[in-house]
Amino acid sequence: MKKPNYGIDAPGLVRFFFAAGIVAGLACIATIFILPGQQFWAYLVDIILGILSAYFIGMGCLMIYWSSVVKIKNRDLVLDQIPWMGDERVLDVGCGRGLMLIGAAQRLTSGHAIGIDIWSAQDQSSNSPEGAIDNARIEGVVEKIEVRTADMRSLPFADHSFDVIVSHWAVHNLAIEVDRHLSISEMVRVLKPSGRLVLCDIENRDAYAKKLKALGLTDCRTVFRPLTDIVLSAVSFGSFRPTTIYARRPT
Ligand SMILES: C[S@@+](CC[C@H](N)C(=O)[O-])C[C@H]1O[C@@H](n2cnc3c(N)ncnc32)[C@H](O)[C@@H]1O
Repeated sequence: MKKPNYGIDAPGLVRFFFAAGIVAGLACIATIFILPGQQFWAYLVDIILGILSAYFIGMGCLMIYWSSVVKIKNRDLVLDQIPWMGDERVLDVGCGRGLMLIGAAQRLTSGHAIGIDIWSAQDQSSNSPEGAIDNARIEGVVEKIEVRTADMRSLPFADHSFDVIVSHWAVHNLAIEVDRHLSISEMVRVLKPSGRLVLCDIENRDAYAKKLKALGLTDCRTVFRPLTDIVLSAVSFGSFRPTTIYARRPT
């Protein structure tokens, strides 16, 4: 049976890590032969190159593992926190190949889920509307979903259109803080009163929570694993700290 393919995030960065790891590894091997042995500095150069090689290759493997295993397991943990009725109108902002969009659609009976994206190949491998639709077909929910091309800074929907809005690892792709805040404001604008917002991302957790509260959302809950957060933050120099924020629009 065909399996869904939810892609690899930031494929360019993954390629960079593997290439840098191989270059550092080869340089490490070469210096063993080139640099005069028995000298402290020659050992030091070798050790540094060896550590760099292991670090880069390790980071590449971590990114692939996270995209292809952890993210998929986490989808159900995240979505199970929502008290689904089955008739919701759902929006996935930056849906990519449909991970959350399809997870939400699996929880719907009469409801409908829409995914929007600009399909950036830099942010996810083989990113396309067809990729999300194919995955939905494989997962048996194609009739419950729809994908559209749209920018998260200007959502093409009327105010108060959705019962549930999810966004998974997408907002950080906006490089400028003003744009990230604009995108969050747009999500809040199109959320119905009593609607729920689930914002998962790898950076900016405090700024997002502050913005959501400033926009009047209530029941804000920030969820992350403290030990995992410390380890991932250390190895990624603070750039990879997966967090989920749950919030609700007051009635
Ligand atoms: C790392 S991928 C995550 C995709 C998907 N949510 C997932 O978890 O598998 C980030 C997604 O955000 C999308 N994206 C980036 N900037 C966007 C923008 N301005 N508007 C809409 N989507 C955007 C990218 O095209 C990409 O599909």
